[in-house]
Amino acid sequence: MRILAIESTCDETGASVVEDGQLVLSNIVATQIDLHAKYRGVVPEIASRAHIENILPVLHESLNSAACGLADVDAIAVAHRPGLIGSLLIGVTAAKSLAWSLNKPLIGIDHVHAHLYSVMLQDGTTKERTGTDTVSPSSNSSFILQPSSLSPVFPAVGLVCSGGHTALYRLNSWLDVQLIGSTIDDAVGEAYDKVAAILGLGYPGGPIIDRLAQQGDPKAIDFPRSLMARDSLDFSFSGLKTAVLYNVQGVPTKNNKPSRIPPPLTDQRLADIAASFQAACIDVLTRKIKRATEHFKAQSVIIGGGVSANRGLRSALANFPIPVFFPAFEYCTDNAAMSAGLAHLYLAAGRVSPLDLDAITYSQFVET
Ligand code: KG4
Ligand code: ZN
Repeated sequence: MRILAIESTCDETGASVVEDGQLVLSNIVATQIDLHAKYRGVVPEIASRAHIENILPVLHESLNSAACGLADVDAIAVAHRPGLIGSLLIGVTAAKSLAWSLNKPLIGIDHVHAHLYSVMLQDGTTKERTGTDTVSPSSNSSFILQPSSLSPVFPAVGLVCSGGHTALYRLNSWLDVQLIGSTIDDAVGEAYDKVAAILGLGYPGGPIIDRLAQQGDPKAIDFPRSLMARDSLDFSFSGLKTAVLYNVQGVPTKNNKPSRIPPPLTDQRLADIAASFQAACIDVLTRKIKRATEHFKAQSVIIGGGVSANRGLRSALANFPIPVFFPAFEYCTDNAAMSAGLAHLYLAAGRVSPLDLDAITYSQFVET
């Protein structure tokens, strides 16, 4: 069973062919980072125009590199929510057109749920299992990323941490996914990107701060950790972002002058801010994961989304008491393979979408 999936929720145009829900035969991503970098964030109008230009070449390349034609795919999947409306519409329209003209099933997938499923993907081009990086209690404490053939045991707690989302889930199966907490302001990846902008670093900020943090002292600055109420599984990162801003530029006063002249941003100070900011993010994420796993008596933890590539986060969870599953690095950020994989289970369960499937944006989308 082969599924062709399309990704266009934000600023990456992706197409992928996945066999039997796990084996990735192709995973093509046309990134738009260069187009948005000078604005230090995604510009929706630019993103949707780039999707229009990219979608057909990306689809062709995906089929070519999987060495299959449209006749060889059994269904068409698309991430149809949540995302930027202009971007979503390109992928959803392409998927509907393919499904209708080929008379094949259409499967609409939730992009955030698909991020969790990315831990199940394996590289089918080499026919070797390289998909999942497991950090388990048996791992050497010095941080081992082991390719593993294990799958998560349910119930599991899932964390999607990306530029658009910081959301905790309870999973009873891949098809039974309940939202148990989310950010009330910035997503953690968004905080990384904004802090990188404050520090005058490039875009996207996550990988740059992650690298810089390795040379800094995580205890240099005691940035705030927002844990909300005692039982809360929600997140807040805007206070942390403001604390970094004040540390760098000084606290504004009534006459708009900083209360003190902050020390210059030397290389060491930059690295210390990066390390201390990253330590605060990781501290909050790991403490919320711990709260959720204890509350729901989870058997495993599943992490996905762009920030799941973070070395510090992987390292911090190396000795977690239950197995923690991370995607292989190539499946952390936005891609279509994760939707193609999850769609296999949807198809098997008869969860096929109608041809009038809607694109659903962030604001219209309220998950229960
Ligand atoms: O999953 P993704 O591609 O897009 C969304 O669905 O939002 O995530 C992109 C985000 C960006 O904010 C980027 O800065 C962050 O993931 N990111 C990282 C790392 N690599 C990417 N954040 C922290 N550490 C990293 N190594
Ligand atoms: Zn994403």
